[in-house]
Amino acid sequence: MLPTRNRRWVLAERPHGRNVAETDFRLDTAPVAQLAEHEFLIQTLFLSVAPVMRQYMLDGAGIERPLQLGEVMRGRGVGRVIASRNADFRVGDIVHGKLGWQEFAVTDGSPYFMMYKVRQRVAPYSTALGALGLTGFTAYLGLADVGATRAGDRVLVSGAAGGVGSICAQIARNLGARRVVGLAGSAAKCALLTQRLGYDAAINYRRDDVDQRIAELLPDGIDVFFDNVGAEILDTGLKHIRRHARIVLCGQIATYVDAGKPRPLYNHDAIFKRMARMEAFFIYEMAQHFERAEAALAAWIAAGKLEYLEDRLEGLEQMPRALIRLYSGENIGKQVVHVSD
Ligand SMILES: NC(=O)c1ccc[n+]([C@@H]2O[C@H](COP(=O)([O-])OP(=O)(O)OC[C@H]3O[C@@H](n4cnc5c(N)ncnc54)[C@H](OP(=O)(O)O)[C@@H]3O)[C@@H](O)[C@H]2O)c1
Repeated sequence: MLPTRNRRWVLAERPHGRNVAETDFRLDTAPVAQLAEHEFLIQTLFLSVAPVMRQYMLDGAGIERPLQLGEVMRGRGVGRVIASRNADFRVGDIVHGKLGWQEFAVTDGSPYFMMYKVRQRVAPYSTALGALGLTGFTAYLGLADVGATRAGDRVLVSGAAGGVGSICAQIARNLGARRVVGLAGSAAKCALLTQRLGYDAAINYRRDDVDQRIAELLPDGIDVFFDNVGAEILDTGLKHIRRHARIVLCGQIATYVDAGKPRPLYNHDAIFKRMARMEAFFIYEMAQHFERAEAALAAWIAAGKLEYLEDRLEGLEQMPRALIRLYSGENIGKQVVHVSD
């Protein structure tokens, strides 16, 4: 028996100039649409949240169309195909893609949905949203390709205990880095970085003098700065770059609430003086490399060379809460929500 009713979170308010609130979303119920030719129906197993979602609620972040009020919240998930009129996606296939915050999603598998089959069997399906999905690909391709991380590099990672950051040190080490230092927002997170996540040392950016601690922990400077945060942390890191350093602009979560406010970079002259390269990337533009990234990450997991952390909430009702946790820093590792078995 196929489902007829679909519970889903829709956008109710836009968080202009403030943090995301639970009241920005409304849980409603709608009929499950009949499948047209080429369409298939997916039952959501897990959903993912990402800092960029606040931008989708406002202006689309320049990379996605802004959401309309009343529209289902955009987001990636992993699910099982339960009905299909598409020859490429069969009943029983496990896929990850843009499912939206809902129990059932109808899609035609066209490029917008970025729908991929989960083929690996080394880790649970939820990892298709974490270490073996776009989160993992972001960390891997950001470090390996954009950052050109190589043997002997000294690496600094901000946002080090989050979904992307929590696997960066191990990936950097697997690529040959000699020393990796991470920045996170609590003592507990810093302990985790050094005890489980492969970081040589950690800096609590809320309590420590970041400038002084980078100088102490990376006295010879930084070859690769993988920045998830932007603003002051980016600026401080620039002071410590080495000759021919690579600064990877992965994310700017510190600027998301008051986006548009000028953010001076007082230390940008270091980029010129040390002939460094600063480059931003957007993972959706690197799809031709996903297979390589997945193969590398899956091989490291299978070999015990990559441990990942998942922060899991139970039930579709938790979606707004899950997203808010990213901005308050409550999550440790990749934040996912378990929707159905
Ligand atoms: N370039 C791409 O294609 C791409 C793809 C995916 C993600 N990203 C970016 O990568 C970054 C990490 O994403 P994620 O999904 O893994 O999220 P995440 O790191 O799991 O969650 C966000 C973390 O950011 C930290 N944070 C929140 N507000 C902060 C602030 N004002 N200053 C410093 N740190 C703050 C919090 O940790 P603390 O407790 O340590 O503060 C929080 O746990 C984000 O900036 C995201 O936009 C980029």
